[in-house]
Amino acid sequence: MSKGEVYLHGGHVTSWKPTHAEEVLFLSGHTNWNSSKAIRGGVPICFPWFGPKDQPGAPQHGFARIREWQLERISEEGGGVLVEVSDRSDEQSRQLWPFDYVLTHRVIFGETLKMELVVRNTGTKPFVFEEAQHSYFQVGKVQEIAIDGLSNRYVLNKIDGKTRKQHGKITFQAETDLVYFDTADNIAIIDLLLKRRITISKTNSKSTVIWNPWSEKARALSDLGDDEWQTMVCVETCNIRNNVVRLAPGESHMMGTEITVASI
Ligand code: BG6
Repeated sequence: MSKGEVYLHGGHVTSWKPTHAEEVLFLSGHTNWNSSKAIRGGVPICFPWFGPKDQPGAPQHGFARIREWQLERISEEGGGVLVEVSDRSDEQSRQLWPFDYVLTHRVIFGETLKMELVVRNTGTKPFVFEEAQHSYFQVGKVQEIAIDGLSNRYVLNKIDGKTRKQHGKITFQAETDLVYFDTADNIAIIDLLLKRRITISKTNSKSTVIWNPWSEKARALSDLGDDEWQTMVCVETCNIRNNVVRLAPGESHMMGTEITVASI
């Protein structure tokens, strides 16, 4: 049987272990289990913006990952277990973002991990938002993995601010913070040390972020152990920057990620 965990804090998936397989997601042993902080690892939900926002009191990556969500449903679905959680706008969210919404995260833990994030505009004004399923994956050693599926895409390197075209697979030799645009294809993490290939299949997601803080930045993060950066990589299903989403009143949008693991 597969196993998984989801927290109401942030509607956040922290673990998924398919039958006879090791944990697929990374979760920091130094996470701040504190309601005002996001969990470090698993799949934080970033909404309604991504990255920093130039507005007093606006948290990095939006507020969804630090709000308390509601449990809507737990049921069996297609041989797996569906857990559905939701978050709706209130006075506190409207102080930071003046719109009405319902966010639903439908997670199916089975032999694949399927996550669907649905945003619905429940207000009377149209809005524009960014979103991410900011997935952290457990890897053998980040210096020895390769990521396939983003070749020939334009990529913004947030470290030097330059945009270029990706040629071939991504490998890691230093701090990495990359935003790929117009990415619809499957992405694979090829991990020769753990002898597995993790495939990430996206629905209605046009951007992908690849992140690893490397040693210096990891030391500056109080919720990440000094060496933990070596065994994690983020491959994030997003709609951000040039790929923001617009919703008219009454409309909704679903963005999804399905993760599969195979031995190599
Ligand atoms: C990534 C961003 O998605 O998340 C990085 O591209 C950022 O710029 C990283 O540093 C972690 O963000 P946070 O807020 O969880 O520390």
